[in-house]
Amino acid sequence: MPTTASSAPGGPNRFAQQLFSPLPARYDTLAEVLSFGQNGRWRRAMVDAVVAASPQLILDVATGPAGVALQMAARTGARVVGVDVTEAMLRQGRANARRAGARIGFTLGRGEQLPFADATFDAVSFTYLLRYVDDPAATISELSRVVKPGGVVANLEFAVPESGFWRFWWWGYTRLVLPVAGWLTGGREWFDVGRFLGPNISSHYRRYPVPWTVEAWRDAGLVDVGVRTMSLGGGLVMWGTRTGG
Ligand SMILES: C[S@@+](CC[C@H](N)C(=O)[O-])C[C@H]1O[C@@H](n2cnc3c(N)ncnc32)[C@H](O)[C@@H]1O
Repeated sequence: MPTTASSAPGGPNRFAQQLFSPLPARYDTLAEVLSFGQNGRWRRAMVDAVVAASPQLILDVATGPAGVALQMAARTGARVVGVDVTEAMLRQGRANARRAGARIGFTLGRGEQLPFADATFDAVSFTYLLRYVDDPAATISELSRVVKPGGVVANLEFAVPESGFWRFWWWGYTRLVLPVAGWLTGGREWFDVGRFLGPNISSHYRRYPVPWTVEAWRDAGLVDVGVRTMSLGGGLVMWGTRTGG
């Protein structure tokens, strides 16, 4: 399994589809278990940034089984559209939204090339996406393109702790514990994810450190860009406002 999605045969979209297709049924549960509940805290912090803007129409990119989209719908009353490149994830998202009685529409699509006109949405969120695209700066611009002037963009990603002490423990967890815990809780597919994640997160931030990402947001027409690291540096929540009008 390659360290970066870009170096995989078939390119990053194909890689993401292969990695994520077997995961939807147990994704929400295992994402919580394997992050010791931190994924839920990070999600809530990202959704807080969107809720504060009182949006009517929200786009959630890399929506997966719709955990973020469901929370947005419940907390804002907005109409939510979820986009994902993996059909199996969207199927699970649709089932989860039906069960919750939530107003969420789902579209198969790529964050790199969204099937929406400029300035369509009041808010756009994206979660764990940039490590699966070839050109993160171009993707951030594309996400910003579909937000109305004054609208909000919010993002959640894994991160690498800055402190050497916590980075040591993070390294041990992601390289040793995560693959084994993935195998024990989810079998072969979750072992593959556990083995891929740590080296992929490290190599992403070596190429695109957080200050680089903040600059890319600004270059994409986003202002008041905020960054919050959580859980000793293992989670990163970002938000910003679309300029123009
Ligand atoms: C780790 S899951 C996150 C799911 C969800 N946002 C959550 O937090 O529960 C990442 C998702 O990104 C999707 N994905 C990967 N590359 C993508 C791309 N280029 N465009 C849209 N979705 C993509 C995958 O199919 C997968 O469902």
